[in-house]
Amino acid sequence: MMNLSKKYRTLSRFLVASCLFSIGALSASARVTHPTGVTGRADTIVISTSHTMLVLGTEHGHLRQWYLGSNRSGKIVYSKALDDVPGIPGQSLPAYSTFGTDNLFTAAIRTTHTDGNPSLDLVYQGRQEIKKSDDITETLISLKDPQYPFFVILHYEAYRNEDVIRQWATIRHLETAPLTLYNFASANLNFHAKNYWLTQFHGDWAAEMQMQETRLSAGIKILDSKLGSRADMFQNPSFLLSLDTASTETTGEVLAGTLAWSGNFQLLFEVDNAGELRLHAGMNPYGSEYSLAPDSTFTTPAFLFTYSASGKGQASRNLERWARKYGVLDADKPRMVLLNNWEATYFDFDENKLVHLFDEAKEIGVDLFLLDDGWFANKYPRNSDNAGLGDWQENGKKLPQGIGYLTAEAAKRNVKFGIWVEPEMVNPKSELYERHPEWILRLPNRPESYYRNQLVLDLSNPAVQDFVFGVIDGLMKRYPSIAYFKWDCNRMFTDAYSSHLQLIGSPQSELPIEYVRGLYKVFARLRAGYPHLPVMLCSGGGGRVDYGALPYFTEFWPSDNTNPLNRVFIQWGYSYFFPAIATCAHVTGSGDYPLKFKMDVAMMGKMGFDMQFNKLKPEELRFVKDGIRTYKSIEDIVWQGDLYRLLSPYEGNLASLSYVSEDKKRVLLFNYLVTDASVQTAVPLQGLDPVKRYRVEEINLPAATKSSSPETGHVFTGAELMRTGIHISLKKDLRSAVFLLREE
Ligand code: DGJ
Repeated sequence: MMNLSKKYRTLSRFLVASCLFSIGALSASARVTHPTGVTGRADTIVISTSHTMLVLGTEHGHLRQWYLGSNRSGKIVYSKALDDVPGIPGQSLPAYSTFGTDNLFTAAIRTTHTDGNPSLDLVYQGRQEIKKSDDITETLISLKDPQYPFFVILHYEAYRNEDVIRQWATIRHLETAPLTLYNFASANLNFHAKNYWLTQFHGDWAAEMQMQETRLSAGIKILDSKLGSRADMFQNPSFLLSLDTASTETTGEVLAGTLAWSGNFQLLFEVDNAGELRLHAGMNPYGSEYSLAPDSTFTTPAFLFTYSASGKGQASRNLERWARKYGVLDADKPRMVLLNNWEATYFDFDENKLVHLFDEAKEIGVDLFLLDDGWFANKYPRNSDNAGLGDWQENGKKLPQGIGYLTAEAAKRNVKFGIWVEPEMVNPKSELYERHPEWILRLPNRPESYYRNQLVLDLSNPAVQDFVFGVIDGLMKRYPSIAYFKWDCNRMFTDAYSSHLQLIGSPQSELPIEYVRGLYKVFARLRAGYPHLPVMLCSGGGGRVDYGALPYFTEFWPSDNTNPLNRVFIQWGYSYFFPAIATCAHVTGSGDYPLKFKMDVAMMGKMGFDMQFNKLKPEELRFVKDGIRTYKSIEDIVWQGDLYRLLSPYEGNLASLSYVSEDKKRVLLFNYLVTDASVQTAVPLQGLDPVKRYRVEEINLPAATKSSSPETGHVFTGAELMRTGIHISLKKDLRSAVFLLREE
């Protein structure tokens, strides 16, 4: 058994010493000269946020991880070496493991040198600390092979207030010819616990972000994607790792990690012979050997993690605060309530039908109309998913007066206009396919293989990048009043081969990486030209929801499954990593459930609609209008508040969650019945100010319906509400209840 208090005392002494070491921009590089003159302990590097600390150190010239965990409570994640601190640490694990020398486990990095030597040895060269703001400090640690001009810099950006560390690597060499990189992890972290519990978020089209928690056994568990463009379709690049015991929302040690990369990824968890866990996170090396030319730099995507000593809830709040500040475009700005026509019309519309929907949008009080798929292509009109992709001109039959007419008609009704594009794709039935066969990913000497009747354009090719950027840029130049885009991507890679890479002499194995780099170049151009244009990130539902893409997008489409019951689970899954302001949740015709249930489920995210309002009864229409007004009065709490998941739909009949405003003056409590049982229970709140007095009100009730909750209309202290909670009573035909608590 570990003696934590003794360890913590040792740790404190050790930290004081470490802080002294870390003062100054560049230190210690002169102190280590491997292979000659290596001393046992040459340097100590502390990377810390307000509650978390990662401690690295050198042993015999090699960079080791000594500690990862809380910097307050003394809880220890990887701790073996602390027994010896401040003496010679003996048993720590590598901070960035290499292949081919004495490493017995998976390597973070692997290459073969030009002389055929397949091993890499990285020794510590020095470090630099850059204070980028009051919040952000970047630590750079440089490593080098003592025998070869091969260099790695490990970057650790510590976000003090959000308790998040963002980590990546840059790789460079000066050998005489290109080197093949076989492994190139962004992060390699180590853990020491009795047990490891991994929560993954897997799924499929229309069933995204299903949670599964398993105890890791000895050996390797990999969460990965090999899907290329629609990379997150089966698995999100995010996970929760609980140490010792499975953590709850409020208890236990947990690390929440996510890779900021919109392509093939690999999260590898290796429990070794000694029961220690070695985590590798990065781009998927599977089939992705990369040829790195001398003096060019290979930059890995960033891996972000946060550590919580008090359960999963705190881990989510940390990451989501970070995402709202740094990770999602304009997350401090308001969003629009929109009406989308996809589920309302599919491909079957013309301009009269659309203008009629504008009327409904105005009447109902939404801000924006979003025209979905089906508006374009003439030689091969886009009347179903089997034609037209790539030909981004208005279809003359459906829209004889063009988009200009639509934007003008929308403006007359004081409704903004948005439009759908899927610029990375092409149907074989299209003029683009006829004009530019060389832009398409497809194998030589094999038949074309289709998914949703389409193929992927080759974004590794700069000409294709120009074309893809031009789709949006062209529309904006012609119709500057377009106020919103939905960027879709409905196909993953299969049978992928780039004639561009062949032409420039690059191996095909680079395609998964170069595709995403090309995509990011286009996103960057989009943002340079249109910094604040709202764009929804969509990939046949949630096939591309990750921290790599979200800095370019204001929101994302979580799933094509809009059945509200299924959405409770799907949105619950996203809520671990992605803030509600970015999570689009639309009220649609899907699912035979009360309209109130649909509205309440949409209100826990960024609410929108995808339905024909003329199909609603007058009282339903009134309910929707009132609901939009209600949402607009509380949306800031959903968008900027801290999330507390209270009762999990995975564990019982009820899902309950709340958002608490930063000043703790206003709170929203959402409750959803997820089975057909009748439920009467109290839901204790979390995160309130115990001494504040809150008045409880049930909101979004249909006209003439009274709240059945005894707390409604009464005032309670935060302490009381956290102890006894709010009583709710739900049954099959009244499946949800939403409460607003306001400080008196
Ligand atoms: C898939 C998206 O997820 C849907 O919302 C819709 O835009 C269709 N594509 C259109 O083809």
